[in-house]
Amino acid sequence: MGSTVSHPPQTSRLDRYAAFCRDFAQELDAMRDEVERIAGLAASEHDLDRRIEHAFRRFAPTWHRFFAASYEAVAPLLADEDLRPKALAITETVVVSRMREGPLTASAFEKRRGYPGDFETLDLIYAGDLRGDTPWARFCHLATLEIGRPVANRLELAVADMAREAERRGRRAFSYINVGCGAAPDVARLAACAPFLDRIEVRLVDHDAGALEAARARLDAAQARTGVTIDATVHHGSYADLLEPAPPAEHGRFDYAYCIGLLDYLGERRAHALVRSLWDRLAPGGTLLAGNMKDGTANVWPVNAWFDWRVKYRTEEDLLGWADAVGATDRTVITDESGRNLLLFARKPA
Ligand SMILES: C[S@@+](CC[C@H](N)C(=O)[O-])C[C@H]1O[C@@H](n2cnc3c(N)ncnc32)[C@H](O)[C@@H]1O
Repeated sequence: MGSTVSHPPQTSRLDRYAAFCRDFAQELDAMRDEVERIAGLAASEHDLDRRIEHAFRRFAPTWHRFFAASYEAVAPLLADEDLRPKALAITETVVVSRMREGPLTASAFEKRRGYPGDFETLDLIYAGDLRGDTPWARFCHLATLEIGRPVANRLELAVADMAREAERRGRRAFSYINVGCGAAPDVARLAACAPFLDRIEVRLVDHDAGALEAARARLDAAQARTGVTIDATVHHGSYADLLEPAPPAEHGRFDYAYCIGLLDYLGERRAHALVRSLWDRLAPGGTLLAGNMKDGTANVWPVNAWFDWRVKYRTEEDLLGWADAVGATDRTVITDESGRNLLLFARKPA
């Protein structure tokens, strides 16, 4: 006598991910109805923004619940070259389409400057204000600022560490190199928070001429505002131009050398080479700062799946490996307050 074993239909990982996105979309749709309802009650633009902030605070536990589950739902799909495009298509249709009214989602997704992580997108994060043409756009913008928190944090940490280093040195001048600098949001911030400095000498490297042009204008404005002399030399080109041995004029020259937001796109060999080139440019007692997004976090879903940025995530051990490779013994890796960002600080012997 034969028996029939019936297997429940196997739900594929991709189907489960699609269901996950649909569940999230359902929550977003309910939230959108709520935002439209409260928009009708608002007495002024200011009142509307206050109501939107309040609405997001109430929505935050739901938002965080999905983000907390997202890594497991999406990371294996993104790691599979066949499934990745399918996962991206689902994400775009089900999630991004609903959030795209938000200026940050639109900018991050569209990559208007032709590459991920451009300075215009980052500027939206650094400004951190409520923007958007409609109440829903403003709500989406506010929600996605949360995604950008590690980016804002790492800039703050970099500036604070440079200011500390500058003060520790007890000199009126401070020199540094910033590779993948974007529109150099750090320089004006450093000038504003380090009253003990008369002069900042900075070497800026980026492949985006528009970012460097924006940087120039901002440095001029910061100089006029703070009275700190900002002596900037700008290299428009690839970080790869620095991978040859440093020319004598740059070898051992800077008090500080750093790169945040670029190593995340480099393979291991190039990342090591860039860290080495920064290290070689440091003066004795100088500090290297190298940042990279941390593996296994809720960043992966929005950054790699919604926005299709091919960020490579790393571990604390990976960053310590960079320090070991240059022989740095005085080094530490910290995780920022969002838990999504790793920063390696390594001090060269004096
Ligand atoms: C995520 S942004 C970070 C910008 C800046 N460090 C910040 O924190 O605001 C990455 C920057 O790396 C630059 N970039 C990307 N590829 C590059 C390359 N091959 N060489 C030099 N810069 C590059 C981009 O133009 C962009 O400004």
